[in-house]
Amino acid sequence: MNMNAIEAIERASIDELRSLQLQRMQKTLQHAYDHSTVYKQKFDAAGVHPSDLKTLADLAKFPFTTKQDLRDNYPFGMFCVPQEQIVRVHASSGTTGQPTVVGYTQNDINIWSDVVARSLRAAGLSSKDTIQVSYGYGLFTGGLGAHYGVERLGATVIPMSGGQTDKQAQLIHDFKPTALMVTPSYCLNIIEALERKFGSAKDCSIRTGVFGAEPWTNEMRKEIEERLGINALDIYGLSEVMGPGVAMECLESKDGPTIWEDHFYPEIINPETGEVLPDGELGELVFTTITKEGMPVIRYRTRDLTRLLPGTARPMRRMDKIVGRSDDMMIIRGVNVFPSQIEEQILHIPQLEANYQIQICKQGHLDTLHIRTEMRRDTNEVMAHQLAQQLKAQIKTMVGISISVEVLPEGSLPRSEGKAQRVIDIRKSA
Ligand code: DLL
Repeated sequence: MNMNAIEAIERASIDELRSLQLQRMQKTLQHAYDHSTVYKQKFDAAGVHPSDLKTLADLAKFPFTTKQDLRDNYPFGMFCVPQEQIVRVHASSGTTGQPTVVGYTQNDINIWSDVVARSLRAAGLSSKDTIQVSYGYGLFTGGLGAHYGVERLGATVIPMSGGQTDKQAQLIHDFKPTALMVTPSYCLNIIEALERKFGSAKDCSIRTGVFGAEPWTNEMRKEIEERLGINALDIYGLSEVMGPGVAMECLESKDGPTIWEDHFYPEIINPETGEVLPDGELGELVFTTITKEGMPVIRYRTRDLTRLLPGTARPMRRMDKIVGRSDDMMIIRGVNVFPSQIEEQILHIPQLEANYQIQICKQGHLDTLHIRTEMRRDTNEVMAHQLAQQLKAQIKTMVGISISVEVLPEGSLPRSEGKAQRVIDIRKSA
């Protein structure tokens, strides 16, 4: 197989794709039912059997799987093959409670490597590229998931992992990678290190960024693209479904990640009622894996809010940029607010840095937001107050809430080395 060429399935007609999905989904449901007591009990309780899936739409009859199911069966209770067939585990730390554990067979690892290689090709990369992987290696799926995909593509991998920001910049300078895989927030941090050490980040060898693992806005994309002189593309994934490479934005269209539907079947549901929504409507993204053996997930509720969009660069459907996670949504005096809406407004003001923190505080009985952000190096300090007023007014008009803003000197806020923690809830500690 020519690793640099687009795969036949990426060009398949919708009819071919749907029939492949149905066949794979039937097989997956049967596999889960036969080899997992958890799925057997869930299906039995809902009164459904794998043989009830006659069309893809029949999937709606099957029960959802949630993070709680994985927690309840910690660590290995959701695996559907004997332990000896599991060749790797990963775990997501999770902000609260028990981590969730996932297991892969050799075949799962091969497919994962293939979809990451396919994602890198969609970003315009080939075996000629040198790719620095700055996602963390370890239990997190980012580092190793990216790594195996780069090797599968036949490109050169620099397995840098997260952290050691100065060294990240030094290696970029010395090894001259053509692409960087990292979270967008940590990329900003690396850009600062490049600027500090070498005067500019724009002149470095990197031409493509493959960024994901956290929500980021198109305003953030523009900021990174300009400062690093690259194309910044969005890669999506989650451990429970596989890891990075569930969906990837194509270079030629740059219009949201294409979902690799031959392996991951998406649905959008109303998060309140569980009802399946038509393509184009905003709701919670749900995935069913249709080729995974080790730990298939059936209708896994991601908590990510987005829309399904028609294919453009590929016939497979795209997902819109993630608006936020349902558990990241803040309700401020009745208004639903996502961190991404705040990020958008900050980045509309050129004198402000792309680093920010959102504190949820209490004022009397009411919840309120306090935004801390930074001004750029060349900005006069006396402008700080004025910039704060400007951001405050913009958020009032565009988001519809009154907040307080603090504009700090550059470098005051903590820097991300992986997934950024944007929201800090100080209601309890205050
Ligand atoms: O973050 C897998 C990954 C690694 C994806 C590297 C891309 C690059 P988890 O730690 O399980 O897995 O976190 C999954 O991160 O449900 C989303 O909320 C968020 N997320 C991942 N990619 C994106 C993205 C990895 N491109 C959770 N845009 C998901 C927005 C993303 N959010």
